[in-house]
Amino acid sequence: MHGPPLNQKIDIPGVKSVIAVASGKGGVGKSTVAANLALALGRRGLAVGLMDADIYGPSVPIMMGLQTVDPNTTPFPLEKYGLKLMSMGFLVDPNQAVIWRGPMVHKAVSDFLMKIEWGNLDYLIIDLPPGTGDAQLTLTQTAPLTGAVIVTTPQDVALIDARKGLEMFKQVRVPVLGIIENMSYFETDTGSRQYLFGQGGGRKLADAAAVPFLGEIPIDPRVAECGDGGEPIVQRFPDSVAGKAFVRLAGEVVGHAKMSATTLPEVEL
Ligand SMILES: Nc1ncnc2c1ncn2[C@@H]1O[C@H](COP(=O)(O)OP(=O)(O)OP(=O)(O)O)[C@@H](O)[C@H]1O
Ligand SMILES: [Mg+2]
Repeated sequence: MHGPPLNQKIDIPGVKSVIAVASGKGGVGKSTVAANLALALGRRGLAVGLMDADIYGPSVPIMMGLQTVDPNTTPFPLEKYGLKLMSMGFLVDPNQAVIWRGPMVHKAVSDFLMKIEWGNLDYLIIDLPPGTGDAQLTLTQTAPLTGAVIVTTPQDVALIDARKGLEMFKQVRVPVLGIIENMSYFETDTGSRQYLFGQGGGRKLADAAAVPFLGEIPIDPRVAECGDGGEPIVQRFPDSVAGKAFVRLAGEVVGHAKMSATTLPEVEL
C-alpha cells in the first residue's frame, strides 16, 4: 500500500531515457534548469515529459502556467508547450501546505512514475527537491534513471552541497551525466561577461569528481520573469543568451546520456 518496495527498479514502458535534475542545495535553479532543458529537448523534435518530484514545493505548475485541476475529470499527464507534465501542484493548491510522511511521498513519486500514462517519450526529465530526503531516495532507487545532472551555482556554499549530491548518486550507483553551473555570469549589452560570484567553480568540482562539466547558464532577470510568468525563457526568448545556453546544455545532456546508456553496465542494487 506504500508503493513498490525500495531497491526494485520500475519499468516505465515507452520511456527511453529518464534524467533526474538534482542539487544538494535549494534555490540553485534545479526547477528552472529542468523546465528549460525539457523545452530545449522538445525543440529538437524529441518527445519529452517533465515530472515534478518536489511534492512539498512543486514548481512546474507556475513555470508552465498551469493550475490545480480536478483529477476525476482531467487525464494526466497534462500537456503544455509540447511537453507532458505531472506535478503535485496539479492535485493540491500550491498555496496549501502538503504535510506528508515519508511513505506517502514515496507512494506519490512512484505513482507519478508508474500510474501516469507517459506514452512514448525520448526523455523524461525529473525535477527533484533539494537535499537527500524521501523523494530522492525513491527516485534514485526505484526509477530507471539513465543518469542525473547536478545543478550548482558558483558560490562555495552551493559547491559544497553539490558535492554531497554527487556523493548520494555515487552511493546509489546512478551515473552522474555532469554538472551544470547556473547563474555563472552576467552578460552586459556589449557582450562582455561579468563573473559575479567567481569563475570556474563548477568546472573544478566536475574535474575533481571526474564527471563531465556540461556548461554555464548566465544570470538573467528574464529567466526568473519568464519562469514566474508561466513561459520559460527557452519558450519565450529562445534566442536570448540564456535561452541559447539552455539549448546548448540540452545538446550536452543528450550526448552524455547516450554515452552513459551504452557504456555503463546495469547495476543491481
Ligand atoms: N539563470 C538564472 N537567472 C536568473 N534567475 C534565475 C536563474 N536560474 C534560476 N533563477 C531564479 O532563481 C529562483 C530559484 O530557482 P529554482 O526555483 O529553479 O531553484 P530550485 O533549485 O528548483 O529551488 P528549490 O530548491 O526550492 O526547488 C527562481 O526565482 C528562478 O526564476
Ligand atoms: Mg525546485
